Amino acid sequence: MRVVILGSGRGSNAEAILRAQAAGRLGAARVVQILSDKSDAGILDLGLRFGVPATFVDPAPFKTKLEGPGEERFIATIKAARADLVVLAGFMRVLKPGFLEAFVGNIINLHPSLLPAFPGLDSISQAFRTGVRVTGCTVHYVTQEVDAGRIIEQTQVPVEPGDTLETLTARVHAAEHQLLPAVIERLSQPAR
Ligand code: GAR
Repeated sequence: MRVVILGSGRGSNAEAILRAQAAGRLGAARVVQILSDKSDAGILDLGLRFGVPATFVDPAPFKTKLEGPGEERFIATIKAARADLVVLAGFMRVLKPGFLEAFVGNIINLHPSLLPAFPGLDSISQAFRTGVRVTGCTVHYVTQEVDAGRIIEQTQVPVEPGDTLETLTARVHAAEHQLLPAVIERLSQPAR
């Protein structure tokens, strides 16, 4: 299963996937490319470290969505990589029908809350400020409605007495680093 990872940020989840692969914990999945819409994103540094092609793809002309010429560039690059699975690991753009139809059913996203609670941005701080007792992270299929596609797997993270936003954030990220590689490993296994 050829996996392409898309991210806009530091890439800690992409790193967790690549570490799982190096440790033989990614099943039949293999990361073949890392793509970012930000030319200075930390996620692109993983390419050299792990020996995977890592490329900036120009997302222009839009700022928060992927549509038009930028969308076409991403689609062409992912098709050239012959991806079986597109993994959004901190890719901070809204995907539009052109992209979703190009890889229908084969795009998954990681989100730092127990969806359907706290979709959108700043989900960990939303959960913290709301005072929930339990939050967590979700991997789900991507559909046109943002953060609303079918849930594949979730991990709960209890909010502890004395937690700050920083300590809670660190535990949610640690849970993400376990969850996303495990889901990819599972999806790479033939259906039983
Ligand atoms: C992760 O916490 C992920 O859940 C979040 O971005 C972070 C990326 O971190 N994604 C979203 O909020 C998507 N709406 P990383 O670059 O260190 O992997």
